Amino acid sequence: MSKSFQVLLLSVAGASAAVVHFPPSSTNINNLTFALSGTGPPGIFNSSVTPNKEYGTYNWCNMPHVRTKEYKTPSQDFELTFVELIHRHHKRTPYASNTFPVEGITWDCNGTGPVAGLARHWQASTPSANPFTTLASPGFVGSTYGSQCQFPSITGAGLDDSLTHGVDLRGVYSKRLGLKDTFDPSEARIRVTNNAITSQVASGLLRGLFPKSDHIQVQIESSTFDSLEPTYSCSGADSLRNNFTTGSGGQLWQQHLTDAAPLYNKLDNVSGIPGDDFGWHMSFDHYYDNMSAKQCHAKPLPCNVDNPSLCVTQDEADTVFRLGNWEYSYLFRDAPDSAAYSALRYGAFALELKSHLQDVIQGKSTLRYVQNIAHDGSVAPLLGLLQIDVMVWPGMGSEVVFELYRNKRSSQYFIRVLWSGQPMKTSTPLGVLDMVKIEDFFNYLDSMVGSGSDLVQGCSS
Ligand SMILES: *[C@@H]1O[C@H](CO)[C@@H](O)[C@H](O)[C@H]1NC(C)=O
Ligand SMILES: *[C@@H]1O[C@H](CO)[C@@H](O)[C@H](O)[C@H]1NC(C)=O
Ligand SMILES: *[C@@H]1O[C@H](CO)[C@@H](O)[C@H](O)[C@H]1NC(C)=O
Ligand SMILES: *[C@@H]1O[C@H](CO)[C@@H](O)[C@H](O)[C@H]1NC(C)=O
Ligand SMILES: *[C@@H]1O[C@H](CO)[C@@H](O)[C@H](O)[C@H]1NC(C)=O
Ligand SMILES: *[C@@H]1O[C@H](CO)[C@@H](O)[C@H](O)[C@H]1NC(C)=O
Repeated sequence: MSKSFQVLLLSVAGASAAVVHFPPSSTNINNLTFALSGTGPPGIFNSSVTPNKEYGTYNWCNMPHVRTKEYKTPSQDFELTFVELIHRHHKRTPYASNTFPVEGITWDCNGTGPVAGLARHWQASTPSANPFTTLASPGFVGSTYGSQCQFPSITGAGLDDSLTHGVDLRGVYSKRLGLKDTFDPSEARIRVTNNAITSQVASGLLRGLFPKSDHIQVQIESSTFDSLEPTYSCSGADSLRNNFTTGSGGQLWQQHLTDAAPLYNKLDNVSGIPGDDFGWHMSFDHYYDNMSAKQCHAKPLPCNVDNPSLCVTQDEADTVFRLGNWEYSYLFRDAPDSAAYSALRYGAFALELKSHLQDVIQGKSTLRYVQNIAHDGSVAPLLGLLQIDVMVWPGMGSEVVFELYRNKRSSQYFIRVLWSGQPMKTSTPLGVLDMVKIEDFFNYLDSMVGSGSDLVQGCSS
């Protein structure tokens, strides 16, 4: 870490946040010319399977995660004391809002319905580290969900991927952390969001992670302050984002939509979506979701229902996938205010993470393993807050792992952060998050988020 940055961090520790934006590297992902006129998809988009020799490359359908095969164990001097991880749910149908007016294909959600019954095992959680809990009314009880297939729903194949993810995590962490085969709430904690698809994933994942347990209670925070999804209200974050998209700071954002007009025209002709439908034209989110969900399940690209020879081509779909990744890089890393935006949007989760790490270090917690099942809208601002060096749209199952190590000789604590199964490279002075002194990591979080009351204040501005 550079000296000047250290001084800066020390001066803000305990005081309000002083966000510094460190721009990401220039790659094809954040090159608008390449997104618009380059070739090929920015990764794998048509199968959950990544060949072993390519494991670690971007796979939208099933992102790389920690597995025994690629996992690097640090030197014997370091003892793994605690792991907290967060990942996006696995592959699913599109959201109802992202389906075309006339849907020509069917989805197989067989087998995933009953598992939404995991909602019966929800346990309300109101951690003090989340400053928004104090603003909510007490007496939160999670809502319940029906069990039939709905949009969105994790698909049967997505449930298989969830199980594999759980088996892989068990292979790496169960022995290293000394976890039992049965779930024990004194050593492990699982958390979901208010969106039922995370509970569907939990039911597959937990079968792999704790194979001897049938009924596992999972934590959930009220949607009034949920820091994981996240759903707490933060107008400070919203106004930053509005400025760098539709506002005066959003020239590049507006430019990309203008440049993509011919592509939009073709997609609208196929889908029948009116060209003035704002939801489909404010970003490529809906078209991306619609087509990637199909391709991940080996379904054909869409054709016009009245004119079956008018179809989206693979080149057009690949351009949508490149543009979608460009958008995520812009929103969470390239726009100068993206760091401040991410810090507000995901600050409450960062504060909870910090409190978990501190509790372990101070001997106040017996927890050794915490797993959070979330969304792209969770992982993306987390990557923005950490200022990852190469941003992407977090694909299905994409995972960030925080590993807390104790050096047996010095008794000092260090953190390693894994993205796609490997130490995460950031653009910050912390560099690659591979055995970073825990104090430096905390100072960085403080510089981004500040205290709980700083966050509440930043959000209400
Ligand atoms: C962006 O991509 C275009 C098209 O491939 C290329 O010509 C240009 O050099 C790239 N720009 C940067 C900064 O890499
Ligand atoms: C998946 O996509 C890749 C690259 O875009 C392509 O080479 C491959 O043939 C596709 N596989 C299938 C099964 O369509
Ligand atoms: C995607 O668009 C196609 C276009 O025909 C539509 O049939 C389908 O229902 C949509 N699916 C999803 C999941 O958005
Ligand atoms: C759903 O899956 C079960 C078990 O795999 C199978 O027995 C059943 O026939 C399937 N139902 C449908 C409608 O496909
Ligand atoms: C919007 O963003 C631009 C460019 O970053 C900045 O100069 C301007 O002050 C911002 N406006 C507001 C209201 O935040
Ligand atoms: C879309 O449809 C309109 C009206 O049929 C036609 O004029 C236009 O050329 C089409 N655009 C594309 C890109 O297919």
